[in-house]
Amino acid sequence: MSYDKVPLAGVIGSPIAHSKSPQLHAHWLKVNGLKGFYIPMDVASDDLETVLRTMPKMGFVGANVTVPHKEKVMELADLVTDRATLIGAANTLIFRKDGKIHADNTDGYGFIQNLRENAPDWNPKTGPAAVLGAGGAARAVVASLLDAGVPEIMISNRTRVRAEALQADFGSRLTVVDWVQAGNMLEDALTVVNTTSLGMVGKPPLRVPLDGLRKDAVVTDLVYAPLKTRLLLEAEKAGCTTVDGLGMLLYQAIPGFERWFGVRPVVDSATRAAALR
Ligand code: ATR
Repeated sequence: MSYDKVPLAGVIGSPIAHSKSPQLHAHWLKVNGLKGFYIPMDVASDDLETVLRTMPKMGFVGANVTVPHKEKVMELADLVTDRATLIGAANTLIFRKDGKIHADNTDGYGFIQNLRENAPDWNPKTGPAAVLGAGGAARAVVASLLDAGVPEIMISNRTRVRAEALQADFGSRLTVVDWVQAGNMLEDALTVVNTTSLGMVGKPPLRVPLDGLRKDAVVTDLVYAPLKTRLLLEAEKAGCTTVDGLGMLLYQAIPGFERWFGVRPVVDSATRAAALR
């Protein structure tokens, strides 16, 4: 094939070897019959600005951004969406034809879309949500749940001041619950989300008592390795609707792919298999 004008995209982070995004985008390029490449790029913080300024000249139309650059890219971008500003991080860049870099955050979109597609009866407006964790991922989850119309969010984090910081930023629909009391908030929650890294392969387990889970709750875990975490297994036993975290990773990638390559990709079982390869 001719490489003239073949669009390039990629994911910028450090480390980057674990990223599932290259397999995912390669799959979408292939099934949609598109020309293009999506490349993992391990970039040190000191080189980030140079890399970002050079990429458009090399034929890159955009990029995903992951740890540790999700905050710094916002300073380097020419235009930042309101939702990325609210969340305090960007995960998707568009290199526009006029040379400007546009930064967005699609994590909240991915989170909500994963629930809407895999728990079609889920109605965030009918009752409170409980969020475990108050890190970067929690900010995107909280912003999108508020946007989706949840009446109240109870948030609990080992380090309470981080949960209080979220409450200060996101307002009166948030209440902070002590980490030792986290199990109690589940009794009222119709949406339950683990945004901590607890339960991930190589991390300690999530030890929050789960006997308070309601059977009419929709329960999801951002951890996707393993796909079935203790939270999801216990929630299944309690009769809850459960949604694993892999879908969030897949759905958050849709807006970027569509902007860069011009086709809106579909998430299906083949997409999941490709990302897990
Ligand atoms: P991310 O962007 O993935 O949210 P992060 O900002 O480092 O990453 O946040 C990680 C989350 O997992 C935080 O809520 C963190 O709690 P602290 O704010 O107290 O650090 C939580 N977490 C990580 N390890 C934990 C542990 N051993 N016990 C309880 N919470 C933990």
